[in-house]
Amino acid sequence: MQTVQTINELKHIIGVNKEKTIGFIPTMGYLHEGHQALLNKAREENDFIVASVFVNPAQFGPNEDLDRYPRNIEHDTKLATEAGVDVLFVPTPEEMYPFESGITIQVGELSTKLCGESRPGHFDGVLKVITKLFHLVQPTKAYFGQKDAQQLAIIETFVNAYNFPVQIVRVPTVRETDGLAKSSRNVFLSEQERAQAVHLFKALQLATETWKKSKNVDEAIAKGKAHIVENTSGKIDYFAVLTYPTLQPVSEQADQLLFATAVFFEKARLIDNILVETKEV
Ligand code: PAF
Repeated sequence: MQTVQTINELKHIIGVNKEKTIGFIPTMGYLHEGHQALLNKAREENDFIVASVFVNPAQFGPNEDLDRYPRNIEHDTKLATEAGVDVLFVPTPEEMYPFESGITIQVGELSTKLCGESRPGHFDGVLKVITKLFHLVQPTKAYFGQKDAQQLAIIETFVNAYNFPVQIVRVPTVRETDGLAKSSRNVFLSEQERAQAVHLFKALQLATETWKKSKNVDEAIAKGKAHIVENTSGKIDYFAVLTYPTLQPVSEQADQLLFATAVFFEKARLIDNILVETKEV
C-alpha cells in the first residue's frame, strides 16, 4: 500500500490507474470494524482501492470535537494495508483547503432535521470535502455506512441531482456483540456509559416493533424515548421516524422508514438507526 499526502501524488496515481474500476472509502480515520466492512466490500467489487483519512475541519462546528477527535494513523495504516487498500490518501487541511474560494455548498432542507438540527453547517462541510475527494479520486463506486443514515441520504441525493459519475454503495452498520453500533467516538464513553450505550439500539428495536404492531409513529417514538431515559444517563438530542431517503414525515407511500436517535453522553454524542422496509411488514 502506498500512502500519499499531496493532491499531485494522488492525481498521478489515479491517472496511471484510470482504466481500472476504483473503489473509494472516505474516512476520518481511527478505523474500526465498521470501516473494515466498507474496505472489504470495496475490495470484493473493484480492481483498485483508494481510502482517505482526513478529519475534515469544514464539518465541525465551533464547539464540537475537532481537536479531540481520535486519531491513530499507524493503526489506520496497518488496518488499511491488511484490508488490501492500494492507496491511502492522508492530506493536511492546508493541502485540502489551500485557499478560501468563498463559494459554498448548501444542503438545504435535508439538513434541517435529525443531526443537521443540532449541527448546523455539518452536512455542508461533508459535501464540501466529498465533492473535492470525488473529483480527485474519480471513483467508480464509493462506500458509506448506513450508521450515518442522514449523511448517506444527502450524499445519494447530491450525487443523483448533480450527476456525479459514481455509484454510492450502502454498507450495513457493524455492531459490537451487545448491539452497540461501532463508532470512533465510542472511546469517549466511560465504563458506565459504555454499558448504557447499547440501549440506543434496544430503544430503536422497541420503537420499530411498536410501529410494526400499531403503525402509530407517536407511540413508537414515545416508547423509544422512554427506554433511553429509563436506561441511560444520556440526554436525548432526537428520536425520530422519517421516510428514507427523503427524510419527510411518515406517509403511506414510503418504502423505507428511518428510525433514528442521537444521545449526548458526557464526552460523546452517539447516533444510531434502524431502516424498516415497510413492504415487508
Ligand atoms: O463519515 C465520515 O467519516 C465523514 O463524514 C466523511 C464521509 C469521511 C467526510 O468527511
